[in-house]
Amino acid sequence: MRTHPVQPGRVALVTGGASGIGLGIVQVLIEAGLKVVVTDVRADHMKRAQQTLASAGDRAVFFPLDVADRTQWSDARRLVEERFGELHILCLNAGVGVLGSMLESSDADWTWITSVNLDGVLLGVETFLPHLVAHGQPAHIVATSSMGGLVVANDGGIYSTAKFGVVALMEGLRQDLRGHNVGASVLCPAAVNTNIFDHERMRPATFRQSGSLRTEDELEGMEAFAKQILAQGRDPIEVGKMVRAGIEADKAYIFTDQNVRSTLIRRRDALLAFT
Ligand code: NAI
Repeated sequence: MRTHPVQPGRVALVTGGASGIGLGIVQVLIEAGLKVVVTDVRADHMKRAQQTLASAGDRAVFFPLDVADRTQWSDARRLVEERFGELHILCLNAGVGVLGSMLESSDADWTWITSVNLDGVLLGVETFLPHLVAHGQPAHIVATSSMGGLVVANDGGIYSTAKFGVVALMEGLRQDLRGHNVGASVLCPAAVNTNIFDHERMRPATFRQSGSLRTEDELEGMEAFAKQILAQGRDPIEVGKMVRAGIEADKAYIFTDQNVRSTLIRRRDALLAFT
């Protein structure tokens, strides 16, 4: 088996690293002795993460990065190469969650979700894959998909279109990386207690025009419902530990919940019912 890159002194970069699952991964990797480049698009999340990670000192480096922006990815690579030389762990975690029927969806709904959730992962792979392969040291890429990357929930069609793509991208990458010193895993979380409930409110101005226009009351109701479900979900630090274990064991899939078994069996049976 390949030697894994979770070693003190190694370098990681995490997208969407200032909140929720990303921040959980960052905290676990810092605890393991790595240096971590924490990237995110939201200044308020970055500010809070800087406070949370203050004790890490210069082992946590903060860099604003919108994963949908190719130029900003090039800037991130330049920062890593100039400051550290090599990157060893790349966690392509940033994503946005939005619910709505495809019958109502707008161009903005599709473009926002696919540009962040799918293109954002692809751009990260494109930017760093040659670097990770070339330096030859143990390295690993983890992308955050979702259980929604394997099954489609009610009103989850747009989200799942992108998240299924992330699963395919990482499965393909894992095959293509055979024989190289770079692993590839896909994280498929079920409910995790994060800030995902407020994503509808964080739409950038260009993607504001949602097809499922909601009143303030409806939005508040959806957020309250989501918070209630998420509160019963995993703690992001627990998920960070699962990601660490998944990298160390070079797992193809990292699941956060045993209950997903029955969901996966239902999907398998539904597929086989057509044969
Ligand atoms: P979160 O809201 O706590 O963290 C997501 C972070 O990504 C935020 O800090 C946000 O500012 C950042 N982000 C959003 N758009 C970005 C962009 N264009 N560029 C860079 N950063 C951006 O939410 P959470 O739950 O931690 O989300 C992380 C990932 O986990 C997402 O990919 C999400 O789809 C996935 N996920 C979450 C689940 C949950 O139950 N919380 C379940 C399944 C998947």
